[in-house]
Amino acid sequence: MKKIMILPGDGIGPEIVNETVKILDFISRGHDISYEFDDVGGIAIDKYGIPLKDETLEKCKNSNAVLLGAVGGPKWDTTVPGKPRPEDALLKLRKHLGLFANLRPVKIYKSLMSSSTLKEEVLNGVDILVIRELTGGIYFGERKRQSDEKGEYAYDTEKYYKYEIERIARLGFKTAGIRSKKLTSVDKANILESSRLWRETVNMVHKDYKDIELNHMYVDNASMQLIRNPGQFDVILTSNMFGDILSDETAMISGSIGLLPSASLREDSFGMYEPIHGSAPDIQGQGKANPVAQILSLAMLLRYSFALTYQADIIEKAVNAVLEKGFRTADIYNNGGKKKLVSTSEMGNLILNEIKIFM
Ligand code: IPM
Ligand code: MG
Repeated sequence: MKKIMILPGDGIGPEIVNETVKILDFISRGHDISYEFDDVGGIAIDKYGIPLKDETLEKCKNSNAVLLGAVGGPKWDTTVPGKPRPEDALLKLRKHLGLFANLRPVKIYKSLMSSSTLKEEVLNGVDILVIRELTGGIYFGERKRQSDEKGEYAYDTEKYYKYEIERIARLGFKTAGIRSKKLTSVDKANILESSRLWRETVNMVHKDYKDIELNHMYVDNASMQLIRNPGQFDVILTSNMFGDILSDETAMISGSIGLLPSASLREDSFGMYEPIHGSAPDIQGQGKANPVAQILSLAMLLRYSFALTYQADIIEKAVNAVLEKGFRTADIYNNGGKKKLVSTSEMGNLILNEIKIFM
């Protein structure tokens, strides 16, 4: 029996998870898959005073995969030190589950080329995988707010152990090996000592993967090159914070952040799967959210944690088919041509129907 913990979270999380569960119910027939729901993020703060209960973390540890919606919202925004934030749940899950590698694939859908702010000739053939280190760096380094004779100050620390860089680099080279054998490592080695160790270590690991073409790029240049000529990239390997920033930028290349899934992995088959977008509280409960990123996150779960490649392929094909037929949620509806505007649940049902045809 394979177990999935489903954590819908806040904002549009529950809506898009709802659509995804319809698909999971259909896909998992005949397979020994069970699932259970629990609260994380703001909703858990409201119910229990903390964003992630130990019990919830334990349940995740005892499952084979986690499917997460999104966390956060203005209701829980606070700058008061020590006050719980919904995002703490996410960081704690990533850290305690040991999910050091975050994979964020970016594909261009032919039918959505006009949704991107970039020109079609720039987008042609773009297929990028951002690999973001997820359990180290400034997200987890020491941070403090203090005062001295000059007044109040604050700091955060970007700290990387060599072993942390080495394991994500190995995963990066291995992944590049099954794609187009090209890896771009992004850092800020002209300034940061942690980036110099990053670059040195990536070069060291490269010796074991000589068939992979490696280049290094500073993060400021990389953010420019992504818009100038995204086709030059295949696998992008980078640190936690640079990966956070660059993956949002890469998402816009595809047309909408509502389309992109992610997988957070470690060395075994366990993983946590979530859209790269946030909880979008501004459109919560209006049927405007795009469930595609969440549904594609389920496809990644089936592929990486359960080795159900056929089922994952079908979900991806179904999403493509629905977009080809011109159905659009609000985020990708630009009023041009004969596009049909649909709600969150209509989109979910359309994808499910397509899956039923394929299976
Ligand atoms: C992401 C998000 C999170 C992050 C936030 C919600 C903590 O932006 O997954 O990219 O910064 O990692
Ligand atoms: Mg982000």
